[in-house]
Order: sequence, then structure tokens, then C-alpha cells
Amino acid sequence: MMRVFLLAVWVAVLINTVYGQLDPEIVDEIIPEVTSQGGQAKLNCTVVNKQSGHTVIWTFLDAKSGGEIITNDETIYIENKECTEGAKKYQIIKREYNRRITYMLVINCLELVDFGKYKCYIQIQGDGSATWPSKIGYLVVQVPPTITSKNVAVLQLDVGHSHDLECTATGVPTPNITWVRSDGALLPDGQGALLRNTTLRLFNIKKEDRGLYKCIADNQVRPPDMYLVSVSIFFKPETLAVQNTVGQAQNRQFSAKLECRVSGYPEPEVVWYRKPIRSDGDTKLEKLNDDPRYEITKLIATTTLRFQEAWYVLSIKNVVASDYTEYYCVAKNRIGTNDTTVIRLFETMECQGANCPSFEAAASSISVSILSIVSMLTLARLLF
Ligand SMILES: *[C@@H]1O[C@H](CO)[C@@H](O)[C@H](O)[C@H]1NC(C)=O
Ligand SMILES: *[C@@H]1O[C@H](CO)[C@@H](O)[C@H](O)[C@H]1NC(C)=O
Ligand SMILES: *[C@@H]1O[C@H](CO)[C@@H](O)[C@H](O)[C@H]1NC(C)=O
Ligand SMILES: *[C@@H]1O[C@H](CO)[C@@H](O)[C@H](O)[C@H]1NC(C)=O
Repeated sequence: MMRVFLLAVWVAVLINTVYGQLDPEIVDEIIPEVTSQGGQAKLNCTVVNKQSGHTVIWTFLDAKSGGEIITNDETIYIENKECTEGAKKYQIIKREYNRRITYMLVINCLELVDFGKYKCYIQIQGDGSATWPSKIGYLVVQVPPTITSKNVAVLQLDVGHSHDLECTATGVPTPNITWVRSDGALLPDGQGALLRNTTLRLFNIKKEDRGLYKCIADNQVRPPDMYLVSVSIFFKPETLAVQNTVGQAQNRQFSAKLECRVSGYPEPEVVWYRKPIRSDGDTKLEKLNDDPRYEITKLIATTTLRFQEAWYVLSIKNVVASDYTEYYCVAKNRIGTNDTTVIRLFETMECQGANCPSFEAAASSISVSILSIVSMLTLARLLF
């Protein structure tokens, strides 16, 4: 009887020394979790030597409360609402493997306020909290960039003035802000092709600075955000002949195309004139209208055109001898007038331009049919 009792005591002591005396411990570091907004994060707290009287607790160490208890072993301790269909904000999953127990804290529907430090600790009944084992896990919520300064998308500026274009963005990590010109041209004042700064300084503005400026906010979290600013600069019209001379043959119902590129802001009004051919020597220019003799068209937004540039075309229909003269492309806005562009129409023997009838094509089709008649005759002779 005594022996059995002694054995029981010895076994109890042995169990105590082998297991009971071993302190509970959090093994493994908690791997930081990097997740996008709206997603799900998982933080593992793996313990050994956990016994009754030990509780594994997950807390959120936000700056204000300094430790909000989320879970208590397998119990969710804080308010836990359903945040997306079928899933609550928090979940705790316990897994045992040999003597290791993992308490996996799952956080759903991640928001900016969720990122920070999470602490896992083992509460030991009867011991002071200073001795409780603990480890910290980091949750980094990634947030794609959002440009917050989208207030001025269209600017109208005078030459010689200065203006700062601002672009700020939120996002985690903090996005890089880059300014470029959307047509790929260089930024003003030797600032290069791209500027890494929230502020793009347009200093002592020149008309060449007009155009679309693009701000890109990128932090490697898809998608990046983008913002376009259209910068219009007030300036006097500029006109340029696409070709200074245009040839066409007369009296054969051919038309001639005179082309003029016009820039300026506010958008210029464009009028075509011609120098009359008159015996009385009067050289007062004649204004041309869109009528059966002339067709006046304006092209915008073709790929070869610059910002705030338009392409005007004057078509002279059925060219006759009296059409061989000088034509003027005159552009006017409230800042000034440009009347320096002259295009001369001269006589040629053959049709000029893209819309000429093709005699060669007609000739070759005739020769093909002659050839086929010849071969049919040859074939007929062979057969009969
Ligand atoms: C967390 O633990 C579970 C199961 O123990 C494991 O499958 C998972 O890979 C672990 N995750 C991390 C981030 O350690
Ligand atoms: C950004 O631009 C501002 C204004 O031009 C300038 O003062 C500042 O030094 C620039 N910052 C960097 C990092 O280049
Ligand atoms: C910002 O740009 C620098 C230099 O290219 C790069 O090292 C850094 O990772 C970028 N930051 C983000 C958040 O993308
Ligand atoms: C008209 O525009 C051209 C540029 O296309 C410029 O060289 C010329 O000086 C301008 N003329 C006037 C009168 O403004």
C-alpha cells in the first residue's frame, strides 16, 4: 500500500519536472503579413507547453488604446460583425501538431485602420503580467494610390506668368509622384522628361509650355492613379503653310488642296483670301467662302497636330486659269492676327495629288484582256 503511494508521488513529481516545470513559450517569430485593402490577413501564434490556467491572447496595439483584446484562446472577445458575405471580421483557428498549438488570427475585410502591431501573449494565472511570454506580429495593409488634389484640370495662363501644378496622393506605402508631359515632350525649364516631386513649377510661362501634363502616383500596389492637367496659354495665332506652292492642271475638273496649320489661343478664327487677277491693278484681297467653288474644312486632333493646333484645308474645285494666284491663310484671335502665310497655286500639265484618275491602271487592264483574247485564239487553233 505504502509502495503504491510512494510510486504515485514519484510519478507525480516526474510528470511535474518533465512537463509541468517547463514554461509555456511562444515559438517561431510571427511572420509579418502584407495584404491589400479589402483582403484577408493571417497571423500565427504558435505555443508549446500550454496547460490549464494558460490562455493565449491576441491583441491589437493601436496607438490610442495600447492593447485591445481580440481573442481569448478560441473565443473572439471583441465585437465581431459579419463584414462580407459569410465572413466575420475576425476568426481564430486552432491547430495542434505534436505539442505545438497554433492560434491563427484571421482578419477579413482589411481597412487602413487595421494595419499596425498585433501582440500575442500567454496569460499565466497566478503570475504577474510582466513574466507572460509575448511576441509581436506586423500587419501592413497595402492601399493603391488615390490622387487627392484633382481640383484644377484645366488651366488658362498668360505668357510670362508662373504657376505651380500640385499633385498629392494617399496610399500605403506612400506613393511616388511623377510629373510628365502626356505627349512625351520635355518638361519646361530643363526639368527633364520626368519630375519626381508633388510640385511641378511652370516658371515664366512660354507658349511652348502649353499641353497636357500628367501626374502619376505609384506605390507598386495596382492600379496606379493618374491625373491630367490641360494647360492652355494665351497667344497670338501662328500660321504655317503645309506646302508653299501647289500645282494643278486646268480645265479638266481637277481640284487643288491648299493646307495651313494654325495654332493660337483662344482658338483663332481662320479666313482664306486670294489675290485677284485683275486688269485694273486692284490688288485688294478677296475673301473666300465655303461655296460651290471652294470647300473650307478644318481638321483637329490628328496625330501629327500639336496641342491647340488645327489643320485648315482650302479645296479649289475644277481649277481654271483664273485660279492661278496667291492664297492667304489668315488667323485671328483677340490677341492678334497672323496674315503672313501665302500659298501659290501654279499650273501643271498633268493632274497632281492623291485624287488623280489613274491612266496606268486602266491601260494595264486593257492589255490583260488583249492578252487573254490572244491566248484564247491560240487555244482555239490548237483544239481545232
Ligand atoms: C500558419 O499556420 C498554419 C497552420 O499551422 C500554416 O498552414 C500557415 O502556413 C501558417 N502561416 C504563416 C504565415 O506562418
Ligand atoms: C519639389 O519642388 C519644390 C518646389 O519647386 C522644391 O522646393 C523642392 O525642393 C522639390 N523637392 C524635391 C525633393 O526635389
Ligand atoms: C519610389 O521610387 C524609388 C526610386 O525609384 C523606389 O526605390 C521606391 O521603391 C518607390 N516607392 C514606392 C512606394 O513605389
Ligand atoms: C505667323 O506665324 C509664323 C509661325 O508659323 C511666325 O513665324 C510669324 O512671325 C507670324 N506672323 C505674324 C505677323 O504674327
